[in-house]
Amino acid sequence: MKKTGKAHSNIALVKYWGKQDEGLRLPMNPSVAIALDEAYTLTTVEFDTKYSEDEVELLGEGFEEDEVEKVKKHLDRVRKIARIETKAKVVSKNNFPKAAGMASSASGFGALSVAASAACGLELSERELSVLARNGSGSASRSIPGGVSVWYTGETDESSYAERIDYPDEWNLRVLLVMAEDTSAKKVSTTEGMALSKATSPYYNLGVEEAKKNIERLKIAMNNGDWTAFGKVVEDECYRLHSICMTTTPNLLYWRGITIEIFQEMYKLREQGVEAFFTVDAGPHVHIVVRSQDVSIVKEKLEKINGIKTVIDCKIGPSAQVVEEDLF
Ligand code: DP6
Repeated sequence: MKKTGKAHSNIALVKYWGKQDEGLRLPMNPSVAIALDEAYTLTTVEFDTKYSEDEVELLGEGFEEDEVEKVKKHLDRVRKIARIETKAKVVSKNNFPKAAGMASSASGFGALSVAASAACGLELSERELSVLARNGSGSASRSIPGGVSVWYTGETDESSYAERIDYPDEWNLRVLLVMAEDTSAKKVSTTEGMALSKATSPYYNLGVEEAKKNIERLKIAMNNGDWTAFGKVVEDECYRLHSICMTTTPNLLYWRGITIEIFQEMYKLREQGVEAFFTVDAGPHVHIVVRSQDVSIVKEKLEKINGIKTVIDCKIGPSAQVVEEDLF
């Protein structure tokens, strides 16, 4: 059978950076993320005896060899659940650049999990899909429920999954995905980077404890509808992740000049009473979390800064789904 899955990328507000169990991909701390409606992956999977080997293709940019291996390993996980041995063809497409720190692995493994499980006739629950996606890439667990979601650490394979949490609708949350032109940072995969941080950053364990507290602070701010307190946690988490990265051996410096320039512009806007908050994953690009009422003023500000390739304006994205499209 042939099926297509669609899953949206997500940006972490409370960050995942390190595993308590490498094999099972159980994270050190829970994390919270927002799914992004304008950044998604479509993946078509067909299991058929006409394929003697798995065939894997990413339209447009192409996959690296190690990415192809990860996709095949994920197909093996699905085959094991479905108790089949049939090989598959996989064709995938991102609607946003597969650039450093853009979490294409989250939408990628989300879409692959949905498509592959449906293509071999499995009817997995959202929770089971989140567990499956997590095994491919941790952050993908959060691309299954979409919305604003929390990924629980869990102690077993089945108990580490993501589900939606409530947030104040009246905020009309938007995320501006600000893509930097300068992507010259040395490419260290997130999997490798976080393992290095755990092994070498003197602040690592302290950071994990802080992340756990930040989840609670974030939930309280959301329950109280307190935008300022929410933003404080978002930016503290950005600095927490990057202080761990910068104090890793070898030092992981994902920011570029433009990254810091955008932070400073957001501080200036705040002095004028416009509260937009920044966060950054493992790359130079900045995600700005903002209420819809302030989107145009923030965009205007960004337009004046040199070194920005493009700005993608996102609303909160939906859950991962099987869709009608067909990529081959
Ligand atoms: C900085 O999910 O890419 O974006 O599980 O090793 O594949 P693996 O890592 P991945 O890490 C994402 C790290 C992050 C923060 C986050 O999304 O929480």
